[in-house]
Amino acid sequence: MDPLIKHIQKEFNTHFPGNPTLIYSPGRVNLIGEHTDYNDGFVLPAAINKRIILAIAPNGLDKIRLYARDMDQKHYVTDLNNNHQQTGMHWPDYVLGVIDQLQKRGNTIEGFDCLFGGDIPIGAGLSSSAALEGGVLAGLNHIFNLEINRVEMAEIGQQAENQFVGVQCGIMDQFANQLGKSESAIKLDCRSLEFTHYPFDRDDVSILLFDTKVRRELATSEYNVRRKQCEEGVKILQKFKPSIKNLRDVEGHLLEKHRTDMPELVYNRCRYVLDENRRVLEACQHLSDGDIQSFGGKMYASHYGLRDLYEVSCRELDVLVDATEPLDGVLGSRMMGGGFGGCTINLVLESEVEPIATRVKEFYIHELGKPVDYYIAKIGKGTSVLEYFAADESSD
Ligand code: GLA
Repeated sequence: MDPLIKHIQKEFNTHFPGNPTLIYSPGRVNLIGEHTDYNDGFVLPAAINKRIILAIAPNGLDKIRLYARDMDQKHYVTDLNNNHQQTGMHWPDYVLGVIDQLQKRGNTIEGFDCLFGGDIPIGAGLSSSAALEGGVLAGLNHIFNLEINRVEMAEIGQQAENQFVGVQCGIMDQFANQLGKSESAIKLDCRSLEFTHYPFDRDDVSILLFDTKVRRELATSEYNVRRKQCEEGVKILQKFKPSIKNLRDVEGHLLEKHRTDMPELVYNRCRYVLDENRRVLEACQHLSDGDIQSFGGKMYASHYGLRDLYEVSCRELDVLVDATEPLDGVLGSRMMGGGFGGCTINLVLESEVEPIATRVKEFYIHELGKPVDYYIAKIGKGTSVLEYFAADESSD
């Protein structure tokens, strides 16, 4: 059993009364399909083996008591039926955003205690926030019998972030967190929320993440700016084709025809999104064909689009991708997530992981004078309620 589960349960028992329900909630990678989710497009994420474990139990009080073992400010307590506002502490906002959404939807929540911790690096683009939202939701769903299904939980997590935290994110992260499955990537149509699990189980290929450790506030503000620019493109194109609802409905030739009717910047953003949607569909076909080489080629193309047209990369991310280009054994590499920092995702031959990591680290320090961390990610299951185990089983 994951030793963290026992630690979390024990720690819960030192801070709070009662027998908690234990929840596993993972981070995610995105193989391809960046900044497409909020444009009703396609994405191909997967849950990974970096996770948080939450222990959660009703407390019979009108209070929410939270404890985050990995944060500097660990405690947060509030009344259940407060008119909740942002806390200024950041992490409790994701929990309160979830409560806010549940209450708005008419779900009955009682007071509860929750302690959590894990190993998803914060701000690295691995969706630690979606893991917290998804874990709390799964926990509340279980202890208060809310009967919310996984897709709804993903939607609630997204709404919590949009309305309470103030990031206008799409649904990809929350969806991967809830619907992840071992050895499978999720092809998600972000318009219909139809999804297919694509086997991604090659023993000879590893997912290597290089972490720039760049954590930029810019990511949030520029993220919302990109959304607006896409909407601006849609508004312009609607004048010529009123049936268009968003970029998903725009065909390449229509965009080209009206290229000069919009600012160049807006054209570039739209062009990128259309290209990226096509790349996701083609990449899925490559997966079905077992053509991992072509799949990797699409990842590089995605990075160049994010760098040159969507302009959400940064020097550190570009250096990491550049570093991989001449290396044998690298199939694909690109920045991942919102951008401006965080990680690159790299598909590499398993047998070459160590030499590739060494070469990339050397190149990075040579170019930028600072070190880079790396992680090997394994695709794993989505958020789940763990089997209860008696306290005496946790005595070692
Ligand atoms: C962040 C958001 C997602 C998605 C990505 C970019 O991770 O939370 O919804 O938009 O950025 O693809």
